[in-house]
Amino acid sequence: MDSFEVNKVAGGVLGTLLATMGLGLLAGWLYSPAEPGKPGYDLPLAAAETAGAGDSKTAAPAKPLPVLLASASVEKGASLAKACGACHNFEKGAAAKVGPPLWGVLGRPVGGVAGFGYSEAIKGKGGDWTLDKINAFITSPKGYAPGTKMTYAGEEDPQKRADILDYLHTLSDNPQPLPAVTDAAPADALPASTEPAKKG
Ligand code: HEC
Repeated sequence: MDSFEVNKVAGGVLGTLLATMGLGLLAGWLYSPAEPGKPGYDLPLAAAETAGAGDSKTAAPAKPLPVLLASASVEKGASLAKACGACHNFEKGAAAKVGPPLWGVLGRPVGGVAGFGYSEAIKGKGGDWTLDKINAFITSPKGYAPGTKMTYAGEEDPQKRADILDYLHTLSDNPQPLPAVTDAAPADALPASTEPAKKG
């Protein structure tokens, strides 16, 4: 091999290298990856957070119950309560089904239907059913009364619950007035002792 031929080979090798480099540059320029605007993945955080909301304590509703009740509809409630009707009777004097009859449930002692086999979870509650308590119970029966026999998943929508409560409230010979919207702030959320002095 003379030097001329060595040069030819060297030239060939260099040429190939240059062409490869050039192609690499060209390819990089042609197929430059799109930079993500925000690195990372979008996790379904909001969904996960709301899913855990109804655990042992019901999450504070965005709107207080009296406000929701003020715009609730008895007709919508009656229709939504058909889901409850699978297990509950609503008519006066009606017997228990899977669950106790719900005529007059507001103001009735919790677990108060004589002869109905309530769970310990309900029997242990004490007190009377109020709109707030039923609201909490039907938000998540298992969250409100762990071990309850009421195998109802719960109604997530606060307005739908208010409609149901509005309807339940009519199931009485003597329906009590619904809470006034001006009393909306729950008393225990803002104890009198820490309430800032009102101006004016
Ligand atoms: C799958 C059947 C089922 C469905 C659906 C159901 N419940 Fe119940 N409910 C029960 C059972 C069973 C009990 C008794 C619970 C216990 O003893 O733990 C009960 C208890 C109750 C109580 C307590 C009554 C008392 O006398 O203390 C209320 C209030 C109530 N249910 C309201 C509702 C409402 C409102 C709905 C619809 C949004 C509903 N339930 C849907 C089965 C059901």
